[in-house]
Amino acid sequence: MTRWDDIAETGSRERELLEQLQPEALPTHVALIMDGNGRWAKRRGLARIEGHRAGIKAVRRTIKLAGRLGLQVITLYAFSTENWKRPALEVRTLWGLLKEFIDSDLDSFVQQNLRMRTIGDTSRLDPSVRRYLKRAVQATEKCTGMLVQIALNYSGRHELTRMLKTAVTEARQGKLDVGVIDEDWINAHLDTAEAPDPDLLIRTSGEQRISNFLLWQLAYSELYFTPVLWPDFDEKNFLEALLAFQERERRFGGLLEDPAAPSESSA
Ligand code: FPP
Repeated sequence: MTRWDDIAETGSRERELLEQLQPEALPTHVALIMDGNGRWAKRRGLARIEGHRAGIKAVRRTIKLAGRLGLQVITLYAFSTENWKRPALEVRTLWGLLKEFIDSDLDSFVQQNLRMRTIGDTSRLDPSVRRYLKRAVQATEKCTGMLVQIALNYSGRHELTRMLKTAVTEARQGKLDVGVIDEDWINAHLDTAEAPDPDLLIRTSGEQRISNFLLWQLAYSELYFTPVLWPDFDEKNFLEALLAFQERERRFGGLLEDPAAPSESSA
């Protein structure tokens, strides 16, 4: 009996990967750019939306494994502020899939003790979508396990712009002393206020970009890019990313070897 016995079957490739995983070297927070749904569908001669539908299965298995491994936060980039430019039918179907996902998975979220919240400007979403999200957030608010943040109508620049507007408005009204603004204050006034910064960002589909995701929060995150298309991203791929993370040497702009030595800047 080993620490991962309840997760993988004996002899499986997953087990081999799990055996190499050091619990103390796991990231606390993993952020994911789930890319490649359209290409996945195209390769199969299917409509793009079928790629998103298959992508939901990958969302489900990724969340499940992350929760079982004991990660504290997972953040999924599900809909960016730029995604409104896609064909209306695709946009409408994406929101429909999100509702279906909440209908089908909310009970399982509660059973897995997962807390769901959203980041992004949800005030602009269709009222019916907002009702679904409210239901999901309320149903899971007492869950004490992993926090699942779903980025909806989100972009990093938009989040920073909203934060700045609020700060300026409050300062003008005399409610905010500008002298209190520091990095901690900014962290506490972003959508992600409840979560530590991501330790690891995973992007699927071979693209190597941040695409306006968590611009402030990713400052020191490790970046991991995989050619696997999101609908194909499975437990093994996730474990491989976690193992790659475990090999990284994180320095946060300092020096690992001798923290007291005179600084010779390194990132
Ligand atoms: C990018 O693939 C993916 C998206 C824009 C949407 C991601 C949404 C899901 C995985 C489903 C909904 C999520 C939740 C949390 C319920 P793409 O369409 O840009 O792919 P392409 O680059 O191959 O065209």
